[in-house]
Amino acid sequence: MRPITEAYKDFPILHKEHNGHRVIYLDSGATAQIPQMVIDRVVDHMLHHNGNPHRGSHILAIEASEAYENARDRVVEFINAREREEIVFTRNSTESMNLIAHSYGLNNLNKGDKIIITVAEHHANLVTWQYVSQKTGATLEYMYLDETGHLKDGEIDKIDESTKIVAFAHVSNVLGMEFPVKQLIEKAHSVGAVVVLDGAQSTPHMKIDVQELDCDFFVFSGHKMCASQGIGVLYGKRHLLESMPPFLLGGDMIEYVKEQTTTFNELPYKFEAGTPNADGAVSLHAAMDYLDSFGMDAIEAYEEELVDYVLPKMLEIPHVHIVGTTNPKEKHGVIAFTVDDVHPHDVATILDSKGICVRSGHHCAQPLGAFYNISASTRLSMYLYTRKEDLDVFLEVLKTVRSVMGLQD
Ligand code: ALA
Repeated sequence: MRPITEAYKDFPILHKEHNGHRVIYLDSGATAQIPQMVIDRVVDHMLHHNGNPHRGSHILAIEASEAYENARDRVVEFINAREREEIVFTRNSTESMNLIAHSYGLNNLNKGDKIIITVAEHHANLVTWQYVSQKTGATLEYMYLDETGHLKDGEIDKIDESTKIVAFAHVSNVLGMEFPVKQLIEKAHSVGAVVVLDGAQSTPHMKIDVQELDCDFFVFSGHKMCASQGIGVLYGKRHLLESMPPFLLGGDMIEYVKEQTTTFNELPYKFEAGTPNADGAVSLHAAMDYLDSFGMDAIEAYEEELVDYVLPKMLEIPHVHIVGTTNPKEKHGVIAFTVDDVHPHDVATILDSKGICVRSGHHCAQPLGAFYNISASTRLSMYLYTRKEDLDVFLEVLKTVRSVMGLQD
């Protein structure tokens, strides 16, 4: 295994300068940066193996098919799925969620059924269920949180015999916390509900084992784990995917097409209409190889160390408040915060003027903001290439934010 301290130098973009400052990238929750090794593998694919997968018997179509399908096998290994039929390539977590909502949700829910989600969900795992609820007459119910971001006592009991879907983030993109995944999945299964786990913020940062989790569906995006944008994954248990109609229609997802009727391809191709993103799949394959060269457990431990380093120092800065828990052990590389009397966009702009990239706004989780009465916050999110010296610079600039805005400490 490579030591994590070697990761930083693998990312050419981290040597970019902005306003005379070296760019310090603390927005990996939005999208992660891409190491040279992943870029090289994609360039090699484009230079030597570019063709349309599954369409053609010439050498380039065959090599492109191999590259695309090898990437699928690598995903099977990376998340410990049972078989390749359970892995569908999509554009991103959002598209994977839409696939589940349309193909499973709209076809299996009825009036009287319940969908349960947490109030901390990303809009991708929320608006989708609002839509299913409105179309089917099923009720959408929320599990609420305490001030520290933990599920309030008794909320889990909302999962009852009428619940058909329980959907939640493995790790929240605002709170950075893990919900009690095992407990929620066991409870959902005890009443016969299907579990949709949003792994967008967990898969890049920790070892994922879908068999051990025993979730029914799991989604994640390549671009948050050092691959390029536009490639994502839907994992689904085979019997569920088999029972579901296709989501998108067109080329490659068919078996036979007659003038009036069509039979559909087998799994996973039934869900992959049109020319796939083979470059993206190659980049995801390379990214998984890259992350595994350090080890997912080591990446998780390193990020814990970073949070342990920066969070207590943030708490010492007057007027800075952390969203959710202040226990560093509970945050997975994501820290959202507010600064009294300064709009989060101003905080982000002041940080950007010194080369520091963070995200500000509602983080695609508006109901969570409304619940906590914080319409927006600033968020730093770290990854294996983040260094303590980067966090020191961040802390120094954060300390100046109020004075830059003409406010007293
Ligand atoms: N879902 C991504 C984020 O939280 C875009 O920043």
